[in-house]
Amino acid sequence: MTTLTLVRGDITRQTADAIVNAANSSLLGGGGVDGAIHRRGGPAILEECRKLRASRYGKGLPTGRAVATTAGDLDAHWVIHTVGPVFSSTEDRSDLLASCHRESLRVADELGARTVAFPAISTGAYRWPLRAAARIALETVRNTPTDVEEVRFVLFDQSAYDAFAAQIR
Ligand code: APR
Repeated sequence: MTTLTLVRGDITRQTADAIVNAANSSLLGGGGVDGAIHRRGGPAILEECRKLRASRYGKGLPTGRAVATTAGDLDAHWVIHTVGPVFSSTEDRSDLLASCHRESLRVADELGARTVAFPAISTGAYRWPLRAAARIALETVRNTPTDVEEVRFVLFDQSAYDAFAAQIR
């Protein structure tokens, strides 16, 4: 049974087995969550991301996929990097956003992670409306069989927290 929890705060200050990063395909860092994770997690994370780019992901990590690295100086064992879809008002990319959550849980299971912290993937630079993203995130986690015991959504501001709180049954 997976417990779903919501927390208002900075995901880089969470203690969890795995912390999910809202990355981009390059895996080489960015702003938002990505920037915060690399800043606080330190160079070891980027070093492993570079190795992934030099090997399995020569062309970058595709949207909707997930891959783990060390968590560096974060209070976690792993960072699970996943690439959310950019919001489109003409094309329904919901399944790619759902895939980010499904794939992150699959990777978490492979690692044996029991607590996983997620940010609100794609709701920042990638412009997904918060309520729609929250519904997809929560529904996907609820419907994905996993050994993860706690999935914690860490929401950076009140509007994101309220959007998730409104959707959690
Ligand atoms: N902790 C938790 N949530 C955070 C933090 C943080 N430290 N910083 C930002 N957020 C929130 C944002 O407020 C937003 O709700 O995470 C959500 C996702 O926003 P982004 O980080 O912009 O991620 P995303 O919308 O998926 O865009 C990804 O942005 O940072 C670049 O390299 C990244 O190109 C990629 C793109």
